[in-house]
Amino acid sequence: TQTTPLTGKKVIVTAGGTRERIDPVRFITNDSSGKMGYALAEELQHRGAIVTLISAPTKLTVPAGVKLISVLTTEDLAEAVTSAFTQADVLVMAAAVADFKPVNSANQKIKKSADNDQMTIELTKTVDILKQVAKLKRPGQITVGFAAETQNLLENARQKIISKQLDLLIANDVSQPGVGFNGDTNQVTILQTDQAPIKTTLADKHTIAKQVVDQISQRVQKEG
Ligand code: PMT
Repeated sequence: TQTTPLTGKKVIVTAGGTRERIDPVRFITNDSSGKMGYALAEELQHRGAIVTLISAPTKLTVPAGVKLISVLTTEDLAEAVTSAFTQADVLVMAAAVADFKPVNSANQKIKKSADNDQMTIELTKTVDILKQVAKLKRPGQITVGFAAETQNLLENARQKIISKQLDLLIANDVSQPGVGFNGDTNQVTILQTDQAPIKTTLADKHTIAKQVVDQISQRVQKEG
């Protein structure tokens, strides 16, 4: 096989939606299917990278040659990412991470009773994994974030690239049909601090993955 700038590079990809327990039979999660992250893992592997996929639960098959680490909660994901990051050249955070989790997770199934027509689940912020990783980042390590937005796509994306100290940010406007969560297609804008944004057309997630990996590959080549 051909040598590429990614040959032998250690790349971590995260995928899927994290789960935060309410009680033994219930949890909070989101619509992430993992398809975007798995497509990226597969494409990176094809280009010769040594890929570790850190995944929340999905229905997908792990691409051949990719090492899987399974996680459930945001805390699990944070631990797995930060420990793998020290050895990594590139981190791609395609996972849809829960921003909040229940303050208390009940040990027993929460019952309804005659006198509670309403109930409140108190939530607390989870750790921001990319912000934590930014503190560990060494020169030459490349971090790639995603932004799933329903409004002010580019403005919010630009803020994320700065606050999370990212090299690349893949913004998807998930309010548009066929874009983002769950389906087989996506349409993204690839942002980099030193380049004009690249807007892809709506396409299969594997096609989008190729375009994203092209940019990661160029970045890796530049970093030498
Ligand atoms: O899985 P699919 O069904 O294929 O859908 C793909 C996708 C829509 C999930 C994917 O394309 C995507 O946008 N993933 C990121 C979703 C998300 O959590 O976006 P965000 O804007 O909330 O977070 C911004 C970035 O910070 C993301 O890279 C996220 O992984 C990261 N993050 C978020 C919260 C947190 N506590 N820690 C983080 O590191």
